[in-house]
Amino acid sequence: MYIVFLGAPGAGKGTQAATVAQELKLVHIASGDLFRQAIEQGTELGLRAKSYMERGILVPDSISIGMVLGRISAPDCEGGVILDGFPRNLKQAEALDEILAKQAKTIDRAVYILVSERELLMRLSRRWICRNCQTPYHTINSPPKVWGKCDRCGGELYQRPDDTVDKAKKRLEVYLNETAPLIDYYAGAGKLLEVDGEGSIDEVSWRIITALGKGEFIAR
Ligand code: AP5
Ligand code: MG
Ligand code: ZN
Repeated sequence: MYIVFLGAPGAGKGTQAATVAQELKLVHIASGDLFRQAIEQGTELGLRAKSYMERGILVPDSISIGMVLGRISAPDCEGGVILDGFPRNLKQAEALDEILAKQAKTIDRAVYILVSERELLMRLSRRWICRNCQTPYHTINSPPKVWGKCDRCGGELYQRPDDTVDKAKKRLEVYLNETAPLIDYYAGAGKLLEVDGEGSIDEVSWRIITALGKGEFIAR
């Protein structure tokens, strides 16, 4: 199964994709995590992406598309994937459809996680992520067991430089202009599942898994 997770910055794509991927035995591919790992490792890819990410704008398609399509074509993705943060615009969605079609595959579902703007900003300003494995935490909603350390790998937690109020607002603006049109793109293809992203993390996971199980499409 090939699933795309759509939603604004802070909607819970990373949090939910990790859980749902584990539950459905899919590979979780997060474009933002791939870029942040490259920055941590000081690779050429990281150097190219850094200045765009710091400004809260999209990394050019010429860089992003190759990176994600390369990853999705790896042998471990044969059983299906959840894409988190990709596609981010129409060009990326078309490139994705094209490469999957060449492998006789298709995107089965697009899960759109809907959260109010006020809640998004509250989530982002209190998010901490693991420098090593990228797991997101929240000072109130999902704190780590030991402050400053990742529950999964013991890695150091830090606040993303693009999670300041100004940068988060910029990312939201970019999302509304460039990514939100994908909601109609997937609705038009009959693949959209709209899920209420507010409530506890477990409640939202349950809603997503139930919606995917039932395959109830939202008529828009
Ligand atoms: P990316 O890393 O993809 O960031 P984003 O889309 O802005 O989304 P976030 O990661 O901020 O939010 P999320 O939905 O994953 O929320 P999370 O689960 O962490 O992209 C960053 C940058 O990389 C971009 O600006 C761009 O420059 C570049 N980039 C990436 N992909 C690209 C592409 N395809 N093309 C071009 N450029 C690209 O949750 C947020 C917080 O809320 C956490 O603290 C979490 O613990 C908490 N939380 C989650 N769920 C709940 C809940 N139900 N209740 C309460 N708190 C919750
Ligand atoms: Mg994320
Ligand atoms: Zn970790």
